[in-house]
Amino acid sequence: MTGLFITLEGPEGAGKSTNRDYLAERLRAHGIDVLMTREPGGTPLAERIRELLLAPSDEPMAVDTELLLMFAARAQHLAQVIRPALAEGRVVLCDRFTDATYAYQGGGRGVPEDRIAILERFVQGDVRPDLCLIFDLPVEVGLARASARGRLDRFEREGRAFFDAVRQAYLRRAAERPEGYCVVDASLPLIEVQASLDALLPRILERVRG
Ligand SMILES: Nc1ncnc2c1ncn2[C@@H]1O[C@H](COP(=O)(O)OP(=O)(O)OP(=O)(O)O)[C@@H](O)[C@H]1O
Ligand SMILES: [Mg+2]
Repeated sequence: MTGLFITLEGPEGAGKSTNRDYLAERLRAHGIDVLMTREPGGTPLAERIRELLLAPSDEPMAVDTELLLMFAARAQHLAQVIRPALAEGRVVLCDRFTDATYAYQGGGRGVPEDRIAILERFVQGDVRPDLCLIFDLPVEVGLARASARGRLDRFEREGRAFFDAVRQAYLRRAAERPEGYCVVDASLPLIEVQASLDALLPRILERVRG
């Protein structure tokens, strides 16, 4: 058995978590066994690495440290959660995955794509998302939604240019491999975003039921 690996991507405040919950509920209503998880994190140890990554600090974090911590957390998450769930035939809905590394560390921080690709192969082997949903919206709209939550994490403190680069990197990846990606207009009212997920549901159910 192999399950289905679906990732939800997009900048801060795009609605990844809200829509992950919605999609899980819709799939469960169809009797599908869904595992919801997130990155960085998804296991107790990986969540501790997440804290290191997100906490603002006086010591600047080197770009390679950030990159390697992302993949260290991912290795743990794959070993403990993602690979076992897929092996059991479950649908894994993951809030951020390696596309976020290409977008944030690649687009945002300027790490060359081929360097990320080396780590991707090293850590993941042949595990790749079956489908990546990119929640796309103007940078300022996402930041306004995210900042309504209060204290900003280390990434949320970045400037406009960083988030523009993140957004463009996501859109570039989706454009390069349209069959594996679905770009959702996340600036629309939530009810309309959910309608676009409903429209995707038959395709997902077909894949799950093989
Ligand atoms: N389409 C929408 N229209 C208006 N508000 C929305 C929409 N989608 C989500 N929100 C609201 O925006 C806020 C951020 O949503 P959510 O936490 O799902 O985003 P996220 O992408 O998971 O953010 P983060 O990257 O910070 O985890 C929440 O308060 C949520 O209710
Ligand atoms: Mg979230």
